[in-house]
Amino acid sequence: MQFGSTVVHRDISFALDKGDTVTLLGPSGTGKTILLKLIIGLLQPTRGDVWVMGRNLPQLTEDELRLVRRHVGMLFQGAALFDSLSVFENIAYGLRETGMEDEEQIGAIVKEQLEMIGLPGIERKLPGQLSGGQRKRVGLARALATNPQIMLFDEPTTGLDPTAKRLIDDVIVRMNKKYGMTSLTVTHDLESARRISDRWILIHDGSVVADGRPEALLQENPEAIDFAHGNWKDE
Ligand SMILES: Nc1ncnc2c1ncn2[C@@H]1O[C@H](COP(=O)(O)OP(=O)(O)OP(=O)(O)O)[C@@H](O)[C@H]1O
Ligand SMILES: [Mg+2]
Repeated sequence: MQFGSTVVHRDISFALDKGDTVTLLGPSGTGKTILLKLIIGLLQPTRGDVWVMGRNLPQLTEDELRLVRRHVGMLFQGAALFDSLSVFENIAYGLRETGMEDEEQIGAIVKEQLEMIGLPGIERKLPGQLSGGQRKRVGLARALATNPQIMLFDEPTTGLDPTAKRLIDDVIVRMNKKYGMTSLTVTHDLESARRISDRWILIHDGSVVADGRPEALLQENPEAIDFAHGNWKDE
């Protein structure tokens, strides 16, 4: 991916299988968020292919892209909610977009999602009445409500206290075990990265520099060892 003369990605190549739980690690500004946006089809790569569920996104029409996107959810860094809509309507939004009209069914899913993120009964609140961490968890509930097959999480636990962090990590693990959800998570938190995934992909200077099981990487891969010791600089 390139913006003007700024080359963000030079050599990024990896494949995820169904049900994989992968963490994407790398210094700030290395292009992790851009990579997720390429995978969900929000950005077009300057060059190269982005295959998602058997389709090469850069070659799809807007309509075809929309069909693929139905199966891919993303929790954005900062998890923006609609401020003028209640928690209920924020979570229901994606469900209505998929064509769901049965209010009873929508209500039941919203309730279930709020229980899962440990915030039952806050349907009527507005985002402005919640703490930052609570908003983030509602963002997670909204992203998961449609039960996407592939989930992209952009720093889902940044800025949260240890309890909220663990809760979100647990939700990611549970969605994988229960529904076989495939996930790609960006995090700077190695403890979370260990909890939620069995494969790490490290990117640095626009390239994949390590890809494998965390224990193996931390023993054998100089880049991974350096990263774990905080020796990588922001780009
Ligand atoms: N629309 C854009 N136009 C030009 N440059 C951009 C644009 N979006 C991002 N960039 C640049 O691309 C690079 C990668 O940005 P990205 O947001 O993917 O980083 P990141 O790895 O997610 O960082 P962080 O860990 O801080 O979130 C940065 O240098 C950024 O300045
Ligand atoms: Mg980012």
